[in-house]
Amino acid sequence: MVVVLGIETSCDETAVAVVNDRVCLSNVVASQIDLHREFGGVVPELASRRHLELINLVLEQAVERSGLDWSAIDAIAVTVAPGLIGALMVGVTCAKTLALLYHKPLIGVHHLEGHICSAFLTEPQLTPPFLCLMVSGGHSSLIVVRDYGDYQVVGKTRDDAAGEAFDKVARLLNLGYPGGPAIDRIAQAGNPYAYTLPQGKISDAPYDFSFSGLKTAVLRLVEKLPSPLPVADIAASFQLTVAEALVSRALACALEHNMNTIVAVGGVAANSCLRQRLLSQAQQHHIQVIFPSLSFCTDNAAMIACAGAIRWKKGCISPMTIEARSRLSLEECEKLYE
Ligand code: KG4
Ligand code: ZN
Repeated sequence: MVVVLGIETSCDETAVAVVNDRVCLSNVVASQIDLHREFGGVVPELASRRHLELINLVLEQAVERSGLDWSAIDAIAVTVAPGLIGALMVGVTCAKTLALLYHKPLIGVHHLEGHICSAFLTEPQLTPPFLCLMVSGGHSSLIVVRDYGDYQVVGKTRDDAAGEAFDKVARLLNLGYPGGPAIDRIAQAGNPYAYTLPQGKISDAPYDFSFSGLKTAVLRLVEKLPSPLPVADIAASFQLTVAEALVSRALACALEHNMNTIVAVGGVAANSCLRQRLLSQAQQHHIQVIFPSLSFCTDNAAMIACAGAIRWKKGCISPMTIEARSRLSLEECEKLYE
């Protein structure tokens, strides 16, 4: 058993958590959604400044709620890449300071590895191999997880990430920010078969995604339809199209790679239509589907701490000279421990 304190500041959530292996002891997330809402998206400069204002308070709460004191914490894990550079730097600086002050090992974590590990918090018995469907605001990919830390990205988005598509379409429909939960909510009252929209298939890459054509198709539809707009029907049709694009590729990919478990993670994995369709269609192929609980789907630090615990067991410690990086592919994440 290893107790790890995790820190996540890669985008617009200031988060600190404490886990004991795969058991979450505390998970504090201060969302900046209200700060960025009027701009319709995350403003990097504002995000970094708000992380600075919040980090000490969030840290204090996470330690207090864990019921532990510093002597019981074995290591400090922190998101180092990828993300907004100024935002990441706040978390990394905080983690380095704590590691120095309390003489703890520092474990840099790749944000996407954190999302993959979010599933272990909900399903502690889960072990690789499995197929991970990663669908967040910044990333949409299919990843074959052969073992802990052994990743092969077999499909990714050519343009917008799934969450980005939700956010952009929500803006078109005046549903506010963030768009995913707003579309999910209003779509409950709509007819998902009201409009046929393009799924964005890519001929030479069956597991890649493309959502920009779908976004443009929704724009054309909105321009064409008379007001008042049938917002619920458009939202439901859009949501079904995204869910189908994700589910069909995830299933085909799992079957090709002989994976009998699909793990769906990231903010869009909170989507109710995606959850229903993936569960029911996977069942027909005797494939098990795992969704982290909703609080571990969107950005949080428990998933970073959990990834840190797994890394710690593999003997992966980061040098104190480690720096935040805005870009780093998942397949390169071993570089964080050189
Ligand atoms: O994983 P996440 O919190 O942050 C990133 O690492 O990007 O994902 C945020 C994304 C946003 O685009 C948000 O609109 C989307 O997840 N999202 C949803 C839902 N809840 C959050 N998309 C669809 N349906 C939802 N219920
Ligand atoms: Zn994320």
